[in-house]
Amino acid sequence: MTAQLSVVLPCFNERDNLAPLLARLETVLAGVAWEAIIVDDDSPDRTWDAAKRIAAADSRVRVLRRVGRRGLASAVIEGMLASAAPYVAVMDADLQHDEALLPAMLRALREDRAEIIVGSRHVGSGSVGEGLSPARRSLSDLGTAAANLLLGARAIGDPMSGFFMLPRALVEAVAPELSAQGFKILLDLLLSVPRGTRVLELPYAFRPRAAGASKLDARVLLDFAGLLLDKSFGWAVPLRFIAFAAVGVIGLVVHMAVLALVLGVAGFGAAQWTATLVAMTANFFLNNAITYRDVKLSGSGLVRGLVLFYGVCGLGAFANVGIARVLYQDALAWGLAGVAGAAISVVWNYAVSATLVWRTR
Ligand code: GDD
Ligand code: MN
Repeated sequence: MTAQLSVVLPCFNERDNLAPLLARLETVLAGVAWEAIIVDDDSPDRTWDAAKRIAAADSRVRVLRRVGRRGLASAVIEGMLASAAPYVAVMDADLQHDEALLPAMLRALREDRAEIIVGSRHVGSGSVGEGLSPARRSLSDLGTAAANLLLGARAIGDPMSGFFMLPRALVEAVAPELSAQGFKILLDLLLSVPRGTRVLELPYAFRPRAAGASKLDARVLLDFAGLLLDKSFGWAVPLRFIAFAAVGVIGLVVHMAVLALVLGVAGFGAAQWTATLVAMTANFFLNNAITYRDVKLSGSGLVRGLVLFYGVCGLGAFANVGIARVLYQDALAWGLAGVAGAAISVVWNYAVSATLVWRTR
């Protein structure tokens, strides 16, 4: 029988958790035609290898080993899109989510009690228990509040849950809308499905981690802040542009600092050239780490990108000076002419580097 339920299991360094998890799925999902889709981002502990060993002996287990990429949300999206079953579940692979809830989730979907079923730590008998440290707990509460602010009338008890189930048709419909960054796939889903989509929360107790460590770090938090900003203001200005402009401001500070330093030992021309080169280099690496972290360049691509970036920004500088000069001759105040020139070069640098240097969609 073909699978009725695909359980998507995102993994990063979960080698020791997989076998126990699959054994538990086998027990609780007896009577259901299920399959597991393990999405591993080339874990250093070779989780993918352990997963493929299991898959070689069990046709219900499939493995997606992704190389050269990282990210919970994108792993979950790709896992869900690899399913052909009518229903899709997503759960952590570290045994923190209670797999015993899966049959009730499936039943609720089949009985059409809602279109999205969420395993919730914040309704009824649900709890976080010992699953989160006090620090992580306050952080999680803060995140929940922020998420619910965004959701407005659609707010739920646990919008930060990584444990949910929905019909695959809904996934297929909203997939192009989903942001592949960060951790908060459910929040993103809730924001992307049509208004009026019914959500049902079923309580469960979040368990402490048995093996391995959490991957929620500063970068993940930054991503979350990014998702919030994107969903709030993204319609007005692309978030990437804001990051690019912010990096540009840092570049300006670097430029002035280097200029001041070098002016002590060299003439203005040489100092200005040195400052420009240092600032461009700093901007390139900052943009690579922050603005374009999802399509980060490395190895020989990094060198090629840096050279291209010099070229793009060099042209941008020419445009800046040229346009500012024309405007200045047209009797515009020097400040306004300068700002207009700088604004045009930022937009140019952004637009061209986003397509040529870093290959975003
Ligand atoms: N493929 C892939 N790639 N999987 C990942 C990645 C990644 O970059 N990062 C994390 N995972 C997997 C982990 O291996 C684990 O199975 C699951 O995603 C959750 O990651 P954890 O690192 O265990 O998250 P957590 O327990 O700290 O966070 C929990 O609480 C959050 C809300 O407070 C999880 O339940 C989250 O899903 C939840 O959003
Ligand atoms: Mn976890």
